[in-house]
Amino acid sequence: MRSSDQVECHVLVIGSGGAGIRAAIEASQYGKTVLVSKTLVGKGGCTTMAEGGYNAVLNQEDSCEVHYEDTMRGGAFLNDPRLVEILVKEAPDRMADLVRWGAVFDVTGSCEVAQRPFGGQRFPRTCYAGDRTGHEMMMTLKERLASTAVERLEEISVISLLSQGNSVCGALGLDRDGEMNVIAADSVVLATGGGTRIYDISTNSSSGTGDGYALGYRAGAELIDMEQIQFHPTGAVFPYDARGRLVTEAVRGEGGVLRNTAGERFMSRYDPERMELSTRDVVSRAIANEILAGRGTENGGVYLDVTHLPASQIESRLPVMLEQFLKFGVDIRKEPMEVAPTAHHIMGGIRIDPTCQTSLPGLFACGEVAGGVHGANRLGGNALADTQVFGKRAGESAGKAKERKIVIDEAQISLQQDRLDQYLNGEVNPAHVSGTLRTAMWEGAGIFRTGEALTRTLEVIRHLAGLRLHAASHRNLLECCTVDNMLTTASLVVRSAMIRRESRGAHVRKDIVQDWEPKNSPFGHTYLSIHRDGIEQSGGK
Ligand code: FUM
Repeated sequence: MRSSDQVECHVLVIGSGGAGIRAAIEASQYGKTVLVSKTLVGKGGCTTMAEGGYNAVLNQEDSCEVHYEDTMRGGAFLNDPRLVEILVKEAPDRMADLVRWGAVFDVTGSCEVAQRPFGGQRFPRTCYAGDRTGHEMMMTLKERLASTAVERLEEISVISLLSQGNSVCGALGLDRDGEMNVIAADSVVLATGGGTRIYDISTNSSSGTGDGYALGYRAGAELIDMEQIQFHPTGAVFPYDARGRLVTEAVRGEGGVLRNTAGERFMSRYDPERMELSTRDVVSRAIANEILAGRGTENGGVYLDVTHLPASQIESRLPVMLEQFLKFGVDIRKEPMEVAPTAHHIMGGIRIDPTCQTSLPGLFACGEVAGGVHGANRLGGNALADTQVFGKRAGESAGKAKERKIVIDEAQISLQQDRLDQYLNGEVNPAHVSGTLRTAMWEGAGIFRTGEALTRTLEVIRHLAGLRLHAASHRNLLECCTVDNMLTTASLVVRSAMIRRESRGAHVRKDIVQDWEPKNSPFGHTYLSIHRDGIEQSGGK
């Protein structure tokens, strides 16, 4: 394999979405910080695509207690209460950071930050910048990053974490030409985002391949609740190429209603109180049920209608939706959209404590790759807040880590070189493997699950993992590494789903009859690492 470059730093941040950039900004106050990104910084990841908003308690009629309760109830009480408490307490301050750095959120007539209702919340606490909130945040974060000394390594994908004893001490990167980079660091922050690209239909950008879960798992970190996959209720259903693309919850927040082909506002049967602003797990299941019962549209969706709203409201509050659907030939001011559930967010992830410390010394995690904040179902608007709250915490914790002498273990580099050599001598096109995987995950580990379907899906994953991926040239090596990450992430999801023998939040086991409510479940987190797996007994019922 080719020769390696070596970089040394105090903190290495992997991933350049909202959490990664926030972590890097914070860490840079403590020493040399390197931000490695598989895309150009800020161009990949999901933050920039996030439309709807950022939850923060800003109004005197709202309170952190209510935000906490909404988040716990929305998460079917599987959330780590310590992390939720931090989220709700610190979200307003991190929002203030963004505003101080130049972010322009929509404001009310009296120049207060405007807030709108989102699902599962008893107060309209979602702050927004039209329906391009994540984009506004990313522009601001990128500008702030540019004023720091953070060194960027762009278009380099981390293929392995480096260890010294039992602690993480850096990473191995691969550039677009298949050249390896060694990065030694006193501490490492994983901020690689999510991975719902393991599903056929997903809102994630193409970079949502679950790299961080796989990197953490292989290095020995513990992951929790990987079965908890959020299917966002409203993804586009056509044209084919746009399937799954996010239709923001803000559409319902602004007053959009869901109807089946009989014209019925069917949410009245599933959650008559909260209707379209029920939690995402409930709304997704309702839509899936309507479609399965034959009350879906020809394109396989249901209707989402805003035609009763003033055109000016749609134009000012939902400009991206308006433009997106006009491109699909639908004027949402005059006709309904068609939508169906789409894989959106992984609530589980690498286990962290309140300082973002993982189970491995030297390794911190934040943002979607970390588990525990959102329990079994995330509230819309809590993810953007999560990136800022835990991004800052992770950067600070990593920055405060002690400097140490790092001796790079050549055997770990050789192991990765052997892996890459095997891809050059492999047989199977990685695109074939990822395509088969995505279909299997959609069919066998989707909104409704059974033990039988999960077992079958795991068999498919194991079969695919046994194939010898082929890289036609050095430039194709990365694709093989990515597909390998997808397979690892998918197997973590399915194995956890088999372990959790109950329905809770987004995880529904059709083959299991249970008589407890989520709050009284006898089970806590599922956990998986290379050393052990299982499910905690929560001591509830
Ligand atoms: O629907 C949305 O705009 C997505 C928001 C979120 O996932 O937090």
